[in-house]
Amino acid sequence: MRLNGVMAAAMIVAAAAVNIEVGAAAQRSAYDGVYTVEQAKRGRGLYEKRCVLCHLDRGQGHEAVPEIVGQSLEREGDAEAPAIAGDAFQIKWNSRRAWDLFSTMTNTMPVGSPRSLSPQEYADVLAYIFELNTLSAGAHELTPERAALESITIGR
Ligand code: HEC
Repeated sequence: MRLNGVMAAAMIVAAAAVNIEVGAAAQRSAYDGVYTVEQAKRGRGLYEKRCVLCHLDRGQGHEAVPEIVGQSLEREGDAEAPAIAGDAFQIKWNSRRAWDLFSTMTNTMPVGSPRSLSPQEYADVLAYIFELNTLSAGAHELTPERAALESITIGR
């Protein structure tokens, strides 16, 4: 009887260890190379067609453009477009899932025609946004599948 108890306890410990290992292997950081250089290049091409007008060439957004007193506020793009690269953006999205950012982009961007890119194209643009945020590229592409994107945490 006593031996059974000890064995049961050992099995529980072993099962717990397996769980922890599986969990650690499944969850990755976006800083660990979750897209490729080639993919970010494709994303850049799309970004330059569909996003650059509002979020500008380095993702700095119109918020970063100083207003010139006396000059017309009318300018290309959208004066409200926020930065999608840099400290404030990284702090805002820190510890959230890549899926959150991907689905926000897909469901709301570009303003006026959401979901007008394919899931693969949104993944490519997301790869470029990671590049703009100086996250390193890796050996495997970022895929648009929900489970894969949920396994990636933005931040360390
Ligand atoms: C016509 C201007 C315009 C275009 C084009 C545009 N955006 Fe935006 N974007 C905005 C505005 C305005 C917001 C803020 C919306 C809000 O907060 O509700 C925004 C918000 C975002 C956000 C969320 C930022 C945050 O921190 O919450 C992301 C990511 C984003 N845009 C990515 C893109 C991508 C990718 C494209 C191209 C596929 C794109 N945008 C095209 C104007 C634009």
